[in-house]
Amino acid sequence: MRIAVGSDHRGVSMRSKVVGLLNRLDHEVIDLGTNAEESVDYPDIAAEVAGRVSRGEVDRGILICGTGLGMSIAANKFPGVRAAPCHDYITAEMSRRHNNLNVLCLSGDILGERLVDRLVEIWLNTEFEGGRHERRVEKITALEKSDGSCPTTT
Ligand code: RB5
Repeated sequence: MRIAVGSDHRGVSMRSKVVGLLNRLDHEVIDLGTNAEESVDYPDIAAEVAGRVSRGEVDRGILICGTGLGMSIAANKFPGVRAAPCHDYITAEMSRRHNNLNVLCLSGDILGERLVDRLVEIWLNTEFEGGRHERRVEKITALEKSDGSCPTTT
């Protein structure tokens, strides 16, 4: 798979481990930094990764910040991007089976390396179930065109 990876300053160390894992698993990695030592704004990195996913330039994205929260909020602004923080085996698996998550967000502050390795592997190897979940994901995509009104009541 072609996978774009990015982190802010709080995820630099975890990102290098994730990049190493992806390389060992023979994925094509596009590492988008940060490589700066100073603090950076996570939306800037999220935009680099989520933009590539949104434009179809990569298959998936992985974003790491202190909590994984800011990265997911920013990444979800991009059309076709489904990003969420995953922090245990169940969220990693279900994010694929039910939500077809295409941007995995991780916490550099909270998670340990062995857990992250396993989360990434589960997330890469679990297929989207489709079926009724396809309909629900399509409804999420339709919300990208929302003008703020609720589509089920208009
Ligand atoms: C940076 O201090 C921190 O806010 C960021 O890494 C992330 O946790 C935001 O959600």
